[in-house]
Amino acid sequence: MAKALTEEQAEARLAWLAGEIARHNRLYHDQDAPEISDADYDALVRENNALEAAWPALVRTDSPAKLVGAPATASHLAKVAHARAMLSLDNAFSDEEVAEFVTRVRRFLNLAAEEPVVLTAEPKIDGLSCSLRYEEGRLVRALTRGDGAVGEDVTANVRTIGDVPDTLNGKAPAVFEVRGEVYMAKADFAALNEALAGERVFANPRNAAAGSLRQKDAEITRTRPLRFLAHGWGEVSEEPGGTQYDVMKAIEAWGLPVSDRLVRCETAEAALAHYSSIEAVRADLPFDIDGVVYKVDRLDWQKRLGQVSRSPRWAIAHKFPAERAQTTLQAIDIQVGRTGKLTPVARLEPVTVGGVVVSNATLHNADEIARLGVRPGDRVVVQRAGDVIPQIVENLTRDEERPAFVYPTHCPVCGSEAVREEGEVDIRCTGGLICAVQRFERLRHFVSRGALDIEGLGEKTIDEFLALGWIKEPADIFRLAQHRDELLTREGWKEVSVDKLLAAIETKRAPDAARLLFGLGIRHVGIVTARDLLRRYATLPAIRALAEEIIALRKASEAAIGETETRFRNRLDKAIAEHIGVEQVGAAVGHALADFFHEPHNVAAWDDLLAQVVPPPFVVETRASPVSGKTVVFTGKLETMSRDEAKAQAEALGAKVAGSVSKATDLVIAGTDAGSKLKKASELGIEVTDEAGWAAIVAAAG
Ligand code: IVH
Repeated sequence: MAKALTEEQAEARLAWLAGEIARHNRLYHDQDAPEISDADYDALVRENNALEAAWPALVRTDSPAKLVGAPATASHLAKVAHARAMLSLDNAFSDEEVAEFVTRVRRFLNLAAEEPVVLTAEPKIDGLSCSLRYEEGRLVRALTRGDGAVGEDVTANVRTIGDVPDTLNGKAPAVFEVRGEVYMAKADFAALNEALAGERVFANPRNAAAGSLRQKDAEITRTRPLRFLAHGWGEVSEEPGGTQYDVMKAIEAWGLPVSDRLVRCETAEAALAHYSSIEAVRADLPFDIDGVVYKVDRLDWQKRLGQVSRSPRWAIAHKFPAERAQTTLQAIDIQVGRTGKLTPVARLEPVTVGGVVVSNATLHNADEIARLGVRPGDRVVVQRAGDVIPQIVENLTRDEERPAFVYPTHCPVCGSEAVREEGEVDIRCTGGLICAVQRFERLRHFVSRGALDIEGLGEKTIDEFLALGWIKEPADIFRLAQHRDELLTREGWKEVSVDKLLAAIETKRAPDAARLLFGLGIRHVGIVTARDLLRRYATLPAIRALAEEIIALRKASEAAIGETETRFRNRLDKAIAEHIGVEQVGAAVGHALADFFHEPHNVAAWDDLLAQVVPPPFVVETRASPVSGKTVVFTGKLETMSRDEAKAQAEALGAKVAGSVSKATDLVIAGTDAGSKLKKASELGIEVTDEAGWAAIVAAAG
């Protein structure tokens, strides 16, 4: 199936999958806020792997198959390298796939037919893995998995977990890293969420465990009902047994909890029977599990089997099928996200799916509604795969006569037109500046560092002024002085702070045109594109005129007789890109500008803003500097400026900013947590500096 794509399509799909999988990794591991179910995530990974197998030449250097979890980023916790990598597990979804696993093991070890492959089998706990390092029997360090190679130091937090002993019973080896899951029992999770009501509520026990373990303050972790269950080990000075089972029993004897459902199975059939027995009691177990893990028992075999990229050849997770139930679809509501994305949500007659009452399910997008053919009134099958948002997987009454669901053509929040862009599945509200849900984000973006950079106008203040009705759109910020007296009467505001804010606003009356254009948050118009456009068009009115020309161009163009939709679109896009006439600025930007100016309220907000501020014509001042004409790459997290600001600085110094490191790169500026790009730079022997080094270059250029 993977081969049915052209090479170009496969390449594009792999690029998309790499980005998407990385995003979901971050959401899941880093932010404890998954957007998709485990089953959907697994499907993405499997599609990626199938494509990579079909097109080995297209395997990317940042292939998701090479990563385990998300890099340990964006965190207050110290990063520490694992003494031995923490691996992930390959998945099996059927008895056949388990049989294939055993066959692979046999083939790899070249075993005689009569030689049994003894396996251990135990529940797969839905928690987060943690490595506990014991030296001379004392707990010295606890790390999360992180990206598998580098984890986060959670020693202080883990010390608060009752299940984890500070010292091991009996005679333990000099070094022994116990690995297992930190998790939260279902009842404890429910009680915690109740206690936290009003504050942050966790979506499921796994997120609650992750959020609780990764606290800055271990005293908060202490108040959270975390538990630990060992399932393996990392670096060890000696193994207290020759089999997986015996080592696990030794770990248990040292005082660490090990599953009471860990068994040794002489045959694959016995392992599958154990799987069925665990599945039968799944809902009654005190904690969430999402499958059964089988491991080759003999450790000498484990060593010979080794690993393939992210997972050992000697273990496999046999996942439970998603839990399902039938119910009635009562309504389809459309929610508007912060970026204007419209998401249909199914309102369901409440039904219990795997012990959890479900009354909402995601329908993803208009395509999904069409694929399922769902309409309010239909009987549907709802699936809850492990955690996160339940989904509708089947419409049981598709054949019944009912009018099809009509997807709104306008935003339900602000009434602006909702459009679907070529090649995209999402439908977006074009309301931009006037749409309430988007208003906050847009204003925040407008005043942010990379845009107008108005000091003192943070999220809290924007929220306050929005609630008071003082600001709705950017121009209102420049009228805030009218509210000075009233603001002085409000809690938290003093003459000094009020005047400081108003003065900061006044300094932005003649803002940089590119920053202003970028600040409007028009899709696809980042700071670099804004500069590219202004270098050619110089003023904002000229940009508006350009947008209007594109609107006219779109209106005037028609498909030729016999021309396919795709061909027509390609022809139009080419004309638009040519009309813009700026290398690196494509039709997507043209369409985005046209969509923005197509909405009268955006035009009104724009006019209003330009009555308040007067950006001088855009002049690119490039200063002579050591980086003039050089290609630079920024990577990692910058502390004192946004990435966009850094890019703008580099451009002002006459440098070209590239997104990836190659032989053509002259300088890499590595912020904190820089990863693969930094590695590549050192491999290629490219000069690397840090943020302070970059600041010095900028300062020296004057
Ligand atoms: S063994 C080298 N056993 O599942 C293999 N993992 O999806 C290491 N997990 O990263 C894992 N229960 O965090 C193993 N009984 C179990 C497990 C288990 C839960 C987690 C573990 C692993 C993830 C892989």
